[in-house]
Amino acid sequence: MNRAILLFYVFLVAGCDWMPGKPKLSAKWQPPTAVSDFTALYNGNCLGCHGAGAVVSGSIAMDNPTYLSVVPRNALRRATEKGISGTAMPAFSISSGGTLTDTQVEILVNGILAKKTTTAAGSLPAYSAAPGDITRGNSVFSAACASCHGADGAGGDKAGSVVSPAYLGLTSDQYLRTIVIVGRPDLGCPDFANRIPGRAMTDEEIADVTAWLVSNRKNEFGQPLVPPAPSQP
Ligand code: HEC
Ligand code: HEC
Repeated sequence: MNRAILLFYVFLVAGCDWMPGKPKLSAKWQPPTAVSDFTALYNGNCLGCHGAGAVVSGSIAMDNPTYLSVVPRNALRRATEKGISGTAMPAFSISSGGTLTDTQVEILVNGILAKKTTTAAGSLPAYSAAPGDITRGNSVFSAACASCHGADGAGGDKAGSVVSPAYLGLTSDQYLRTIVIVGRPDLGCPDFANRIPGRAMTDEEIADVTAWLVSNRKNEFGQPLVPPAPSQP
């Protein structure tokens, strides 16, 4: 093939600015700090770790209905702004070293909470509370969790370990409490109202089993680890 023909093909494939159909750069591109569409912000920054809708990820889905009913707005906002230290949850606001403006954080918080549906009848547990009694928590685990996570929490037929150092070492006390309340329905972990046949877990049971989970957080030498700072609501 001679050079002129080759060049012709290169132009044909690459396209040129004067050719019809090429989008103007200015129409497509906007600086990241100007993005104001909730879905674009959520999909670009959160979906990979939290999922939503049909997307299941490693961490709690931000459209989990029970979660939206219990999480206080300021806890949601604080976690998004400042991240959760000692865990994989990064800080997003520019003032905390992230990439999002305060306006964008606000758009995310508003957009997440907008998916809240009418709260189910019956009282909901408080989002945060002091951990309860570890010994009682062990019995609660047997009654409400062991059928899936195994008698000692190290994994069973239906679900994996919730006591492994690799998991607990990277998970805050509040997140454990959050999961005890809201579950991971996207993965098959029921919420507090659907674990014990015929009744919901009580506030005391929730606090006790959270304390038991936390008490399993140890380093590789079997010594208890200082827990990562929980998010303050
Ligand atoms: C790299 C993964 C990752 C990304 C990206 C991420 N998160 Fe998280 N997020 C986590 C993890 C892990 C936790 C649980 C941390 C813990 O143990 O407290 C978490 C926790 C949270 C919590 C607190 C949950 C609770 O217990 O109430 C909120 C709220 C949250 N994330 C919101 C967001 C939002 C909004 C975005 C996007 C702007 C986002 N996250 C992006 C990993 C991520
Ligand atoms: C019907 C089965 C079932 C029951 C009952 C159950 N779980 Fe789960 N749980 C799961 C499944 C499935 C997962 C997904 C991960 C896996 O397969 O291990 C999970 C995940 C979890 C996680 C990790 C969630 C995350 O985002 O990091 C925690 C913590 C947890 N469960 C705690 C509990 C506790 C505490 C109880 C009892 C109060 C309980 N589960 C009861 C099935 C169950």
